[in-house]
Amino acid sequence: MPKKTFKPLDFSKVKTYPLKKRLSKVETALFGKKVQKGARVRALIEGLPDILAAQNLKAIARKILGRGVAIRGALVQIGPHPIDRSAWDWRAIEDNPFWCPDAAMALRWADYLDTVRKAGSSAGAVIEIVASGVPAGLGEPIYDKLDGDLARALMTINAVKGVEIGSGFAAATLKGEDNADEMRIDDGRVVFLSNNAGGILGGISTGQDIVARFAVKPTSSILNPLRTVDVEGNEVEISTHGRHDPCVGIRAVPVGEAMVASVLADHLLRHRALTGDI
Ligand SMILES: Cc1cc2nc3c(=O)[nH]c(=O)nc-3n(C[C@H](O)[C@H](O)[C@H](O)COP(=O)(O)O)c2cc1C
Repeated sequence: MPKKTFKPLDFSKVKTYPLKKRLSKVETALFGKKVQKGARVRALIEGLPDILAAQNLKAIARKILGRGVAIRGALVQIGPHPIDRSAWDWRAIEDNPFWCPDAAMALRWADYLDTVRKAGSSAGAVIEIVASGVPAGLGEPIYDKLDGDLARALMTINAVKGVEIGSGFAAATLKGEDNADEMRIDDGRVVFLSNNAGGILGGISTGQDIVARFAVKPTSSILNPLRTVDVEGNEVEISTHGRHDPCVGIRAVPVGEAMVASVLADHLLRHRALTGDI
């Protein structure tokens, strides 16, 4: 990462507010009393994954998973504004800065984020990752379930507060017959009539698209004043200046793709070692 992209002064105001801001007790223990250094290291660590993600994704997906597997990510919601899923067009994500598959919603997000940024605030987001061409049979029926490993990997991304596979939380509202992915024979092959399972049943890939979504919280570093407590125990207010994303969800898209690619590649190698297959 080029050094000039990092601006230490952006953190100068937060050095005495470790409780509300970026430094946990763990970081203070790790980095000692120079708490500002912790924030600085943290910023560098957080910046790295998205820089490495694209490279990792390409290297892993192409070399281990092979050209038959495609892993793509899209932003499907910013703040209270979800995309219109019927307008989904993968080509659209190349034409807007939000990885948004709904061209009309991308325009609305631009206005919305501008308003949020000018108001000194921030917004959360939902990212969807779709892996196509994944062979059936990857994963384990218990413990190292493919969905379990994907959920863990996505949850380890900073600012992620929720993960869904397939119909996810919406499954709770469905009846059994609506949630079931029924099967039929088409041209001698078994086909699923829906994909509520998100491509994974019993911890093992089915050969359908693997679909995972994750929610990121609104950026915590905001201009608007927030109540906190400083290192001396005084009740104070903090306002974070400097360069912070009004929505971290945008940069989290390639990070999510890389995470999914890594988990799938890991399971493919394990499957190969166990079975000599694929
Ligand atoms: C790509 C990316 C960029 C981020 N940029 C910022 C930022 O500019 N300001 C901020 O307060 N948090 C940012 N975050 C979120 C923090 O990293 C995260 O909220 C913080 O480390 C605490 O971790 P937690 O939210 O998982 O508990 C970013 C996260 C990601 C994934």
